This record gives sequence, C-alpha cells and structure tokens, in this order.
Amino acid sequence: MKNTSIGIIGLGYVGLPLAVAFASKYEVIGFDINEKRIKELNKGFDSTNELTPEQLNKVIGSSLKLTTVLEDLSECTTFIVTVPTPVTSSKSPDLTPVIKATESVASSS
Ligand SMILES: NC(=O)c1ccc[n+]([C@@H]2O[C@H](COP(=O)([O-])OP(=O)(O)OC[C@H]3O[C@@H](n4cnc5c(N)ncnc54)[C@H](O)[C@@H]3O)[C@@H](O)[C@H]2O)c1
Repeated sequence: MKNTSIGIIGLGYVGLPLAVAFASKYEVIGFDINEKRIKELNKGFDSTNELTPEQLNKVIGSSLKLTTVLEDLSECTTFIVTVPTPVTSSKSPDLTPVIKATESVASSS
C-alpha cells in the first residue's frame, strides 16, 4: 500500500478533512471543479472552517496536491468521491454530481 496514491474528488466539508487525514500516510491528489476553492486552499485558507492553515500547510505541497486539473488524477490507484448528493423536489436522489465526478475519474485514467 505504500505506493498507493489516493484521489479525492470534491473537497468540501467531507472531502477536504479526508484528504488531509489520508495525506498523513499516503500520497493524495485532491480534485475539485471549483477553482476559487482550490486557490484558497492552496493558500492555506479553508472557507468551511474545518481545517486550520497549520493543518493544511503541513501536507499541501508535500503529500497532498490540490488541483482542478483532471489529468493530475491519472496516477491515482484509489478514488474516493465526496461530491454533493442532493435530492430533487420529488425527493428522488439527484445523482448528477456523482455521475459527473465518476465520468471525470474514468476520463483521467
Ligand atoms: N457535510 C456533512 O456533514 C456530511 C455528513 C454526512 C454525509 N455527507 C455527504 O458527503 C457528501 C459530500 O458532502 P459535503 O458536505 O462535503 O459537500 P460540499 O458541498 O461541502 O462539497 C462538495 C464539493 O464537491 C465539489 N464538486 C461538485 N461536483 C464536482 C465534480 N464533478 N468534480 C469534482 N468536485 C466536484 C464542489 O465544488 C464542492 O467543493 C454528500 O454525499 C453528503 O450528503 C456530508
């Protein structure tokens, strides 16, 4: 497992802390479609207030790479999808974000 590179798709309330936790043991690529979010995180600022700048800066640039570039996921061997899973007005699951995210993973490899 030492060479495992984990791709985390969607860096919100769930994905970002997960990415940072895994980065203490593994190489992690965190991917999000929100460029503003990635820019802020790469500067050590988490607008969700889940993580401090110290927690982010400890791993960013070493074991954790945060990106909007799909191709950066190509070396990952394991993927975790943490995008939103809303429900429609009729209370059915709206799987559009999950489908888009998994299509991204498929096209990156
Ligand atoms: N937040 C919670 O407390 C909580 C608790 C339990 C379960 N969950 C579940 O965890 C999942 C994620 O929730 P969250 O609160 O972290 O969501 P969030 O809205 O905080 O974050 C989702 C992130 O995914 C990104 N995203 C959307 N589409 C994408 C795509 N196609 N490719 C890459 N990134 C994409 C968004 O830009 C955003 O940064 C959901 O299924 C949610 O129901 C959340």
